[in-house]
Amino acid sequence: MSATAPLPRSPLPRDLAQHLDRLVEGLDAASLWWLSGYAAGLAGRIAPAPDARAAVEPDAGARLTVVYGSQTGNSRRVAEQLARKAGDAGFGVRLARADAYPLRELAEERLLYVVISTQGDGDPPDDARALIDFIGSRRAPKLPALSFAVLGLGDSSYPQFCLTGRKLDARLAELGGKRLFAFGEADLDIDVVAEPWTQQALTHAREVLKTQAPATNVTPLRPHVEVQAWSAARPFRAELLANQRITADGSSKDVRHLELDLAGSGFDYEPGDALGVLPRNSEPLVAALLDALHLDGDAAVMQANAVHPLREWLTSKRELTRLSRPLVATLAARSGSTALRELLQPEHGEALRRLLETQQPIDLLQRYPANWTGEALVAALRPLTPRLYSIASSRAEVRDEVHLTVAHVEYATEAGTHWGAASHWLATRAAGETVEVYLERNERFRLPADASRDIIMVGPGTGVAPFRAFLQQRAAAGASGRNWLLFGNPHFRSDFLYQLEWQAALKAGSLQRLDVAFSRDQAEKIYVQHQLREHGRELYAWLEAGAHLYVCGATTMARDVEAALRDVIVEQGARAQEAAEAYIAQLRDEHRYSRDVY
Ligand SMILES: Cc1cc2nc3c(=O)[nH]c(=O)nc-3n(C[C@H](O)[C@H](O)[C@H](O)COP(=O)(O)OP(=O)(O)OC[C@H]3O[C@@H](n4cnc5c(N)ncnc54)[C@H](O)[C@@H]3O)c2cc1C
Ligand SMILES: Cc1cc2nc3c(=O)[nH]c(=O)nc-3n(C[C@H](O)[C@H](O)[C@H](O)COP(=O)(O)O)c2cc1C
Repeated sequence: MSATAPLPRSPLPRDLAQHLDRLVEGLDAASLWWLSGYAAGLAGRIAPAPDARAAVEPDAGARLTVVYGSQTGNSRRVAEQLARKAGDAGFGVRLARADAYPLRELAEERLLYVVISTQGDGDPPDDARALIDFIGSRRAPKLPALSFAVLGLGDSSYPQFCLTGRKLDARLAELGGKRLFAFGEADLDIDVVAEPWTQQALTHAREVLKTQAPATNVTPLRPHVEVQAWSAARPFRAELLANQRITADGSSKDVRHLELDLAGSGFDYEPGDALGVLPRNSEPLVAALLDALHLDGDAAVMQANAVHPLREWLTSKRELTRLSRPLVATLAARSGSTALRELLQPEHGEALRRLLETQQPIDLLQRYPANWTGEALVAALRPLTPRLYSIASSRAEVRDEVHLTVAHVEYATEAGTHWGAASHWLATRAAGETVEVYLERNERFRLPADASRDIIMVGPGTGVAPFRAFLQQRAAAGASGRNWLLFGNPHFRSDFLYQLEWQAALKAGSLQRLDVAFSRDQAEKIYVQHQLREHGRELYAWLEAGAHLYVCGATTMARDVEAALRDVIVEQGARAQEAAEAYIAQLRDEHRYSRDVY
């Protein structure tokens, strides 16, 4: 479609449509893509959960539908790329986030591609829960006319690798759908699997759509794709303005408050968004690995058409702190170790899980000697992936800055002290140094558009970060709704993150209620979920009055909090378990129960 062609079945009034035509006349493709992303961003502010239905919809027989379920944006990116390529190839495309996909239309779907990650301990991402529940339920329709393929995203260091995608793939086939090609399993080096999968999807789309009756007036449907100048592939270099430890001496945790300068980036982040950080592995770790394997850091190593000195590969391009199953398998083969081979057998799943969680690659590379070349090592290690950090500031308060709350991952094994790649990289930066970052939006973790709504924020540990941003934003906007924060950590004296700020907010009236759970300050352990149970009557009353509930922090905590929430609803609402589940599902559907867990 040319930029100046009349807008087919446009919802715009005629004079506005003509005005728009004049505005876009002569724009090149890049500008048009930018504009479509800009418009999508505006639309998202009015009504979250973007899908492309606002534009012309070819009927189900002549288009393909791409649905994604994504917690941290990876599946969304892959789905957007597929939709964009399919649009460019002339197909009608509908792109929908899983919670915006109209479930009742599944039965009419002819060609469906799903890109979906796995979270928690094999759980679906939050935005896909309803879809997965529906497809897994007895209410799911038979799908004899459907052709489909599924790409799962995951991390092979988790025992339930890509479980959500795999289960969905099996279920769609069980319902009678025709699997066009095999389920794709993408590990953290996503593109290695996602790119060929996307190619296959396009090839099959050509076949499937060729045999369908073309819809009248089929228009390539441009999905809403937000084009950002900065990305993980092209990060912005932000100057570090401050790096301050906010846990006291004697704390078992080293938590940092970081302030970065975003001037010139154009990042228009909102509370709820995260910042992606591209870490570098520490020099001592890289040196120790080179030393242990007797390799020369200056030697040029070629991999996938790129040549860098081995030291550079290991510093900025390969994971040295997270162990993966494929690396264990490669090491088992290279070292000839029967112990490692045994460990990979299904009956040792639990032992392997523990190993992956607690050891770093260098531990195993030292323990199981093998003959390594630089090329073999770079091929065996996974690409270094960015880490996300919840944004702990509001632009209304800090303008061109962004603040983060980062727990420095540090622990000892028999091989010595180990650090997490990104948290160590950040914790050891000094003001004036630069950090490579990009913005990761999270439309599912947003303050209520109606500022008179109450909010309840459950954020123990670093989970409190986005709520600092929420409170700053609500104070700046003069929001009339009440704010209730529940915070927890081991000790009051050493681990009360941002204590003075909460106290000031209470005094200023921008925080109405603060409940704390310091787990180790008394004989019995007290956590935020205990506080929720204890204050169940108020919690339920706030929810009944329309409050929005937010939970941020560790996955296990979020699960315990949900169990407490269910108990409170059963008790306070005098409901059965099933009715309490339905209550929670409804909160989720109404975007009144949002989680940001990691
Ligand atoms: C949406 C989102 C928001 C997030 N927000 C925040 C935030 O606001 N603040 C924050 O601090 N983090 C946040 N995180 C987590 C963050 O992204 C990183 O995962 C975290 O900082 C660890 O990364 P790392 O690179 O330091 O460690 P890695 O290099 O990724 O991990 C090191 C390895 O050490 C292992 N390990 C860790 N602790 C131990 C131990 N005690 N004993 C043995 N082994 C251990 C782990 O299993 C892992 O394999 C968020 C994550 C997501 C997805
Ligand atoms: C808290 C958390 C739990 C995860 N659990 C699993 C898991 O059980 N299985 C798995 O394969 N991947 C797991 N992953 C890895 C994600 O699936 C992977 O990072 C994926 O690329 C995320 O895609 P998304 O951004 O579309 O959600 C987990 C990631 C996080 C942050």
